[in-house]
Amino acid sequence: MDGLESGMKLDAGDNRANTGINGLDDLLNGGFPSGSITLVSGTPGSGKTIVCFQYIEAGIKNGENCLYLTSDEPVPHLLNDARKLGFDFQSAVDNEQLKFMYLDIDRHNIHKEMEEEIKTGKYDRVVVDSLSPLTETPIWMVNNGNEVIPSSNSMTTTTLPIDSIQATRIHLRRLIGILKEDKCTAMVTTEIPEGSRDLSRDSISEFLVDGILVLDLDTTMDRRKMTIRKMRGTKHTLKPHEISIGERGISLL
Ligand SMILES: Nc1ncnc2c1ncn2[C@@H]1O[C@H](COP(=O)(O)OP(=O)(O)OP(=O)(O)O)[C@@H](O)[C@H]1O
Ligand SMILES: [Mg+2]
Repeated sequence: MDGLESGMKLDAGDNRANTGINGLDDLLNGGFPSGSITLVSGTPGSGKTIVCFQYIEAGIKNGENCLYLTSDEPVPHLLNDARKLGFDFQSAVDNEQLKFMYLDIDRHNIHKEMEEEIKTGKYDRVVVDSLSPLTETPIWMVNNGNEVIPSSNSMTTTTLPIDSIQATRIHLRRLIGILKEDKCTAMVTTEIPEGSRDLSRDSISEFLVDGILVLDLDTTMDRRKMTIRKMRGTKHTLKPHEISIGERGISLL
């Protein structure tokens, strides 16, 4: 046990970060516990990125500093998607209240870059959308103990691959560890493969985070659902709530 599973950063009061989703704060005692990490998991197209947009928009309205790390979509695409849904982040980006950063997983020092940004940026809210590409990058051990991702360095170093499950664990622990050490309240996303009963693609992150929101699609009934699967320090219902996506994002019905 290295402390990662032992719970969120201590917060003397019961301060909460509002979620930005109509109706959800009431189900969560006001929002996500300050300093916590919430995993948003769901199948493709279930609304994970929209949940992130709403969380960031709420932070901006509160005057908080926000960081959006994206590994799925380049920043201009993401801003475009957001605009179509009625979220205009440009002015917050211009006045440096919000920073978008594209995580290019082919760069071997990507974790270091993330860590430095999170540590030096003094962010209140950090989003990582999504964890999956970051955790599926293999780690290769070099003789002197430095980690190197094969695409950037494998031609020039003697390497010893670690199997992929171990690599996923190492990446996740480091990533979650970075977020836990910071004062920010974080949101991370993960894809659940269609038909799977797992809570994350890697089957590990659900144990490392403080809260889990699961997004479901019922394609036959043309319905969407959100379930609060876990939220440390919070009494909450486990009942799935029907949601809809429209202009301005997700709302609980
Ligand atoms: N203006 C809109 N009105 C209603 N529904 C919308 C609108 N815009 C997007 N959607 C729905 O939201 C879905 C996309 O949501 P989002 O990008 O948050 O999903 P995701 O879970 O992040 O997907 P992925 O796993 O691909 O990243 C679309 O597939 C569509 O069903
Ligand atoms: Mg997405």
